[in-house]
Amino acid sequence: MKISVFGMGYVGCVSAACFAEQGHDVIGVDINESKIEFINSGKSPVIEEGMDELIARVVENGKLIATMDTKKAVNESEITLITVGTPSKENGDLDLTYVERVAAKIGSLLANKDGFHIVALRSTVLPGTTEDFLIPVLEQNSGKKVYVDFDVYYNPEFLREGSSIEDFYNPPFTVVGTHDPSASSKLDELYGFIDAPFFKCSIKAAEMLKYVNNSFHGLKVAFANEIGIICKRLGIDSHEVMDLFCKDSRLNLSSYYLKPGFAFGGACLPKDIRALKYKSKMLDCESMIINSILRSNDNQIDEALRMIFASGKKKVGLLGLAFKSSTDDLRESPLVTLAETLIGKGYELKIYDKNVSLAKLTGANKAYIEKEIPHIESLLATSVDEVFNFSDVIVIGSKDPDIEYIATMDTDKVVIDLVRIVGDLSEAGGNYRGLCW
Ligand SMILES: NC(=O)c1ccc[n+]([C@@H]2O[C@H](COP(=O)([O-])OP(=O)(O)OC[C@H]3O[C@@H](n4cnc5c(N)ncnc54)[C@H](O)[C@@H]3O)[C@@H](O)[C@H]2O)c1
Repeated sequence: MKISVFGMGYVGCVSAACFAEQGHDVIGVDINESKIEFINSGKSPVIEEGMDELIARVVENGKLIATMDTKKAVNESEITLITVGTPSKENGDLDLTYVERVAAKIGSLLANKDGFHIVALRSTVLPGTTEDFLIPVLEQNSGKKVYVDFDVYYNPEFLREGSSIEDFYNPPFTVVGTHDPSASSKLDELYGFIDAPFFKCSIKAAEMLKYVNNSFHGLKVAFANEIGIICKRLGIDSHEVMDLFCKDSRLNLSSYYLKPGFAFGGACLPKDIRALKYKSKMLDCESMIINSILRSNDNQIDEALRMIFASGKKKVGLLGLAFKSSTDDLRESPLVTLAETLIGKGYELKIYDKNVSLAKLTGANKAYIEKEIPHIESLLATSVDEVFNFSDVIVIGSKDPDIEYIATMDTDKVVIDLVRIVGDLSEAGGNYRGLCW
């Protein structure tokens, strides 16, 4: 394939050189003349393990050339990768100056280019940038129509400096954001040689993914460091603790607990996080992440309440009460907090939770219900139907498969789903509202 790469920084150089190594004809473009000279003399303009040898090889065999001649680059390629920098502005927003300049240039060149062209943005950009910023700039400057005269993709890069060639060939996955994930594209072909899962998704999801990745990486580092400071002050070797922590790939290092949903609760998590927070305070540790976990969790309850208030309805049916679907345990259940807040605000409430009803009948959690939440006990219904018929807004707080049909039915009642009971949102009913999806 004939590829042009705009921006010969870390991402651009590595991509250009690795695609050239795969036999593609690659033209690298930069506004920095010395980078162009470096590359054309067979040297790498970035310090990266293996890059000098790789650039020397692909320049020597004519597969990679570098130029400032943008017209040649666009005219002599079928795919253009944009890999210019997207630095921070002072307020944290992204500075899109380089993306804008390069897009305007590519657009103006597409105006006079015959044949279809593909533009793939690889720079890290906030969700919406490709569709609301890049595409309009390309259309205005080319006078052409996206998805008719040219295609645009968002293709995030996951390489790490220091191991970028290795990461290019062995990524965790390749992701392409496209307006039509079901269609095959030249990018499928381009990445065909990489032995890693290949996913297509919406453009905005691909843009967001990069920020989720990097925020999570930052969160992990900062969390481990907070644990390190607490451990040190307690005379514990933090590496001994974290080495063990990392051995649990079922709950700790896994996809578990990573799906957006309702707040956590129960007899352990809130209590133990409170205790660690207290201990860290006693040790004069700042522990900003640990200190903010319970506040963030409370905000998830508030978010659900905001949705219920916004529905404008006063008769609420709550399906689920225990802190998680498969239990009758009501201790520190966020659904109990939700119910109590609604009662306090004068909402009429009916509640049904299969496991809680059973516990009440069999005496398992009867004492707790009668002693700790008698105000809620009187609101417990005996069936889903009773709750459904009573309410104008139904809040699904349990993953009980018996109530899934409510999320998919068309009803006048507002259905607020706190637990993502419906997997495929296209199957949701007309009045369905998800908590955070
Ligand atoms: N560095 C990384 O490890 C990494 C990893 C993944 C994603 N990213 C993202 O990729 C993008 C590029 O990062 P980088 O570290 O390679 O940036 P960089 O600053 O090293 O390189 C950007 C290059 O673009 C060139 N450039 C600027 N305007 C240009 C124009 N109009 N035409 C042609 N070239 C132009 C610059 O001269 C520079 O050489 C950023 O959005 C970054 O967030 C970086």
